Amino acid sequence: MIILKTEEEIGAIRKAGRIVAACHREIAKRMKPGATTAEIDRFAEAFLLRNGAKPAQKGYRGYPYATCASVGDVVCHGFPSGKTLRSGDIVTIDMVAEVDGWMADSAWSYAVGKPSPEAEKLLKAAKQALYDGIRKAVAGGRLGDIGSAVQQTAKREGYAIIDYFVGHGIGRSMHEEPQVEHRGKAGSGKKLRKGMVLTIEPILTMGENRIVIDDDGWTARSADGKWAAQFEHTIAITDGEPLILTDQD
Ligand code: MF3
Ligand code: CO
Repeated sequence: MIILKTEEEIGAIRKAGRIVAACHREIAKRMKPGATTAEIDRFAEAFLLRNGAKPAQKGYRGYPYATCASVGDVVCHGFPSGKTLRSGDIVTIDMVAEVDGWMADSAWSYAVGKPSPEAEKLLKAAKQALYDGIRKAVAGGRLGDIGSAVQQTAKREGYAIIDYFVGHGIGRSMHEEPQVEHRGKAGSGKKLRKGMVLTIEPILTMGENRIVIDDDGWTARSADGKWAAQFEHTIAITDGEPLILTDQD
């Protein structure tokens, strides 16, 4: 069942979204050679709490941290670690904030120090794929419009999409219906309606889209060791333009 949200409820999700966005902006300043993702995780958790939000990922299905920190070939759900980041690394930080029971989810990929031209191109394409998907999130359209737009951008830029992981509805629960696939056919799939709140979160990789999961049960890596990047927003469908509830700007 897809739970449509009222404007008031979307406002409540936006409150959580603003805190996530502010936290990402602070993380951007801290993503430097010599930093560790464990430090960044501790910072993020304290930042959310200080701003009246709960780090909703912590304890979710046993996930032990406030953030997922996915470096290099880790495509998502990496554990924050004490390993020092080096110039040229790329790191995705994903987090969910909960305010008054409403959740917002956003992931951002960061370059540490000076990225290679290849890494820079991957990051740019991953962000572009997200925004091209968001543009199709309008009432009267279909889920396949979003998936198709994301897929076309990734393909045009020469990247595969890790289709094992999908976007989702979000609200009082972190994961609600529908699943938002990052591939599809325009004009197909469920109808998009005003009041839907969804995440769009494509993971693009330089290699193939097969993954393996580490023994920790969470860390998902590309099977071929190639790097991946991901940008994710929580968005709301309205009468007009989609609202980006975890906007960075
Ligand atoms: N934020 C993630 C998503 O995009 C969920 C991460 S799994 C968790 O759906 F266990 F860490 F919460
Ligand atoms: Co997320």
